[in-house]
Amino acid sequence: MKLLKPENALIEELLATIRDKNTPYYVFREDLERLGELLIIEALKELKLKEKTVETPVAPAKVKTVSEEVVFIAILRAGLSLLPAALRVFPKGRLGFIGTYRNEETLQPVNYYVKFPLLKSARYVLLDPMLAMGGTAEQAVKVLLEKGIEENNITFISIVSAPEGIRRLEKFRGLTIITASVDEKLNGNGYIVPGLGDAGDRFCGTE
Ligand code: URA
Repeated sequence: MKLLKPENALIEELLATIRDKNTPYYVFREDLERLGELLIIEALKELKLKEKTVETPVAPAKVKTVSEEVVFIAILRAGLSLLPAALRVFPKGRLGFIGTYRNEETLQPVNYYVKFPLLKSARYVLLDPMLAMGGTAEQAVKVLLEKGIEENNITFISIVSAPEGIRRLEKFRGLTIITASVDEKLNGNGYIVPGLGDAGDRFCGTE
């Protein structure tokens, strides 16, 4: 597993707003999306390119365009918050969704919704703003692996991560995690400390 925490002053500035509990939901939403864009750009910066020639108003110019497919997968519900950012960064991206809940008796994760395009050698970008205990993230990666997608082609984007969640994903040797912050720990209720609270609720304006 490769963990990337991009060094960028703009990321710090945006983290400051979204961590602040006094930030209204509509500003939280906008800044979370902007932060998501910066991380998703990082995730896609090494996409393969192919050359072609276009005519500028002056002369022919050799240019390069992306030759790989990208599939963004939102982990429900909070991962939906990063889809607008993903599509702004790469409008040709295809979309998928994974929804999981934990069976309260067996404590095992159950997938209640899985739908995404299966494309040979596409880049798969899993979106979830919070990597907390890592159970849902682990389940989402397993879903992709079971469909034959290679670990090397999977990137997990989380805005704020807990060390516990990162440790849980360590076993996926080829996986890349891109995060704006690795926080201190989880509290007894499974919230990241200091974190930013419930990202889904804050994005949706749920009270
Ligand atoms: N999910 C959240 O939205 N926030 C946390 O702190 C942990 C999980």
